[in-house]
Amino acid sequence: MNSKAELHVLFDRHEIETAVRRLASEISKDYRNRNPLLLGVLRGSFVFIADLIRHLDFPLEVDFIGLSSYGSGTQSSGKIKVVKELETPVRERNVLVVEDIVDTGLTTAFLFQHLQRLKPASVKLCTLTEKPSRREVPVNIDYLGFTAPDKFLVGYGLDANQKHRNLPDICYLEGEA
Ligand code: IMP
Repeated sequence: MNSKAELHVLFDRHEIETAVRRLASEISKDYRNRNPLLLGVLRGSFVFIADLIRHLDFPLEVDFIGLSSYGSGTQSSGKIKVVKELETPVRERNVLVVEDIVDTGLTTAFLFQHLQRLKPASVKLCTLTEKPSRREVPVNIDYLGFTAPDKFLVGYGLDANQKHRNLPDICYLEGEA
C-alpha cells in the first residue's frame, strides 16, 4: 500500500448514527417477535452490528461467520473461503446477514449459497454500505445504510490491510495504489 494515501471523511459518525437508527427501525418492524439470528460477517461488520443491536429492543441472537475474499491488498481475489464457521444451527431460523460493505457482491452471493444449504426459514441482507458501480453478481439488499462511490473505504470496522478499523467515521483513501 502507498504510505502517502490520505484519509478523507465520507460519512461522519453523526450520519452513521442516523443511518443505524433508521435501519434498526426498519428491521424492528420486520423482525419483532421472530427471534431472528443476526449473522455478522467478520471482520468488517463487528462495529456496525454492535451499534445496530443496541437499537433493537426485542429478543434476538447474534453469531458471526468469518469470510475472506481479499488478500493483503485492496483488490478482490474473487476467491471466497470460510475462515470461521457460524456456530448456531440456522435450520428454520430467520437469519439477517449483517455486512459492512457489498462491493462486487461475490462474498454475499457465496454466503447466501452457503446458508441456503443449512435450510433457514428466511435469509435477508442488511449492509451498512454498498458500491453499486463495482457489482459483478446481483445481490438483493433488504436494508441499506449508504450508497458509496467507487473508492476504497476504511473506518467504522472497515480496514485497509487490517488498518483503520478503529476510525469512528467512514473515510476513503486517496492516492492509494
Ligand atoms: P465483495 O465480495 O467484493 O462484495 O467484497 C466484500 C468484502 O470485501 C467486504 O466484506 C470487505 O471485507 C471487503 N471490501 C470491499 N470493499 C471494501 C472497501 O472499500 N473497504 C474495505 N473493505 C472492502
